[in-house]
Amino acid sequence: MLNTANLSLEQAPPISIPFRFFLTAPLFGLAAAMLLIWYGPEVMTSRWSPQALALTHLITLGFLALVMCGALLQMLPVLAGVPVPQVVLVGNLVHPLLSVGTLGLVIGFLLGSLQWLKFAVIALGAGFVIYILAVGVALWRVKQPNPTVTGMRMALMALGVTVLIGLTLASGLSGWGTLNYPFLYTNVHLVWGMLGWVALLLIGVSFQVVPMFQVTPEYPGWMRNLLPRSLLLGLAIWTTLYVTAFIDRTTLFWSFACLIIMLVGYIAFAVTTLMLQQKRRRKITDVTLLFWRVGIVAIPLSFMVWAIGRMFPKITVFVDLDMLLGVSMIFGVAIPLLNGMLYKIVPFLSWFHLQNRQLAMMCMSVQIPNMKQFMPDAPAIRQFWIYLAALVFTLAAVVVPDWLARPAAVLLAVSFGMLGYNLLQVVLRFREVSSELDQAATSNQDG
Ligand code: HEM
Repeated sequence: MLNTANLSLEQAPPISIPFRFFLTAPLFGLAAAMLLIWYGPEVMTSRWSPQALALTHLITLGFLALVMCGALLQMLPVLAGVPVPQVVLVGNLVHPLLSVGTLGLVIGFLLGSLQWLKFAVIALGAGFVIYILAVGVALWRVKQPNPTVTGMRMALMALGVTVLIGLTLASGLSGWGTLNYPFLYTNVHLVWGMLGWVALLLIGVSFQVVPMFQVTPEYPGWMRNLLPRSLLLGLAIWTTLYVTAFIDRTTLFWSFACLIIMLVGYIAFAVTTLMLQQKRRRKITDVTLLFWRVGIVAIPLSFMVWAIGRMFPKITVFVDLDMLLGVSMIFGVAIPLLNGMLYKIVPFLSWFHLQNRQLAMMCMSVQIPNMKQFMPDAPAIRQFWIYLAALVFTLAAVVVPDWLARPAAVLLAVSFGMLGYNLLQVVLRFREVSSELDQAATSNQDG
């Protein structure tokens, strides 16, 4: 059984706030797939092509950031017991600002339009400032932070750095100011985005949700207490070493060494997670576990791609290893971990909200569906197989883009479409049961 004893709903925002983030995210995934269908192999020609940058941000901002921001707004009060100040206002502002800002950035990249890039800087800047301030206030109000709260704090700081550099890059491209080292800035930006914001939040949240949802033993104490902090420190040291070496044109050896030490930390997390999942008490393999296995196994594989690229740079004549690394980290690690998590969070929040309402109203005549009834396995598992095929095709498309870019895109479109549809079914079911509760409450009053 789920252990929900430590969870509190009192200060949680209305469920419509996280739901709108979760339902919009697959639409951005779908848009990314459409972009790949439209432009085909061109997208894969270089990581610097406008189409590749547009696709990257449709996923990193449109899918990943929307899911993560929505989940944090909701999970923070539930898991840590702290309210996000003005959460309804924050949700109402941040969701549209991030959505239109992402679209603006993507259009700006694709059309090379300075106006759209400027618009994106304003919208994304405003959205993220509001979000980081509100969530930051809540996180730093926690008196005795547990490892999950610490992980969230570190992730939020990394988001701040990622966004700041992203805005600087976009301002430079839009004609607002000039940028001396775009290559340097971009590399620092993407490392803070992927190894900071995305990875630290996933690690912090896993400390709580893996034992809770998958009924596994706890992560080891040293890992929970040390890993997020050490990784953030590692990122800061790596940045200093990398920037100095880049500008002074000296050896990048020490920054590589620092990155390798950090990668050992990520791999330790991956291996521990797999081992804990092996020891889970409920031996059923549910869909979240399937997605998680792919995401976790892809962590050391991405590391191998990176290492091969550094050790044998000549291989890049045959295959663009930077592109392969980007695809494996974004499509192989981040997407499945969040996709799997969504299949737990959305039915869980639906059940938890309704059950709390039912108890508060003392209205036992309405049957509240359990999590599996909200989100049955079969359609989610079908989506998992399509996702897996999409991943294999997208990875292979880096090697033979002419043949495989469009088939990969079609599979991605089907996968995101199915995810969106499945989540929508949960939300519709939630609304149905919610109105049954309303009716029961009115008839109780009438009676
Ligand atoms: C305010 C938000 C953001 C803005 C304005 C922004 C802007 C940019 C810009 C302008 C570039 C291209 C640099 C160039 O061509 O010179 C870039 C690259 C990149 N950004 Fe962002 N970004 C933002 C957020 C993020 C986030 C949150 C992530 C990841 C989680 C991310 C991941 C990346 C990656 C991976 C690249 C490199 C793409 C490649 O090399 O193929 N960005 N970003």
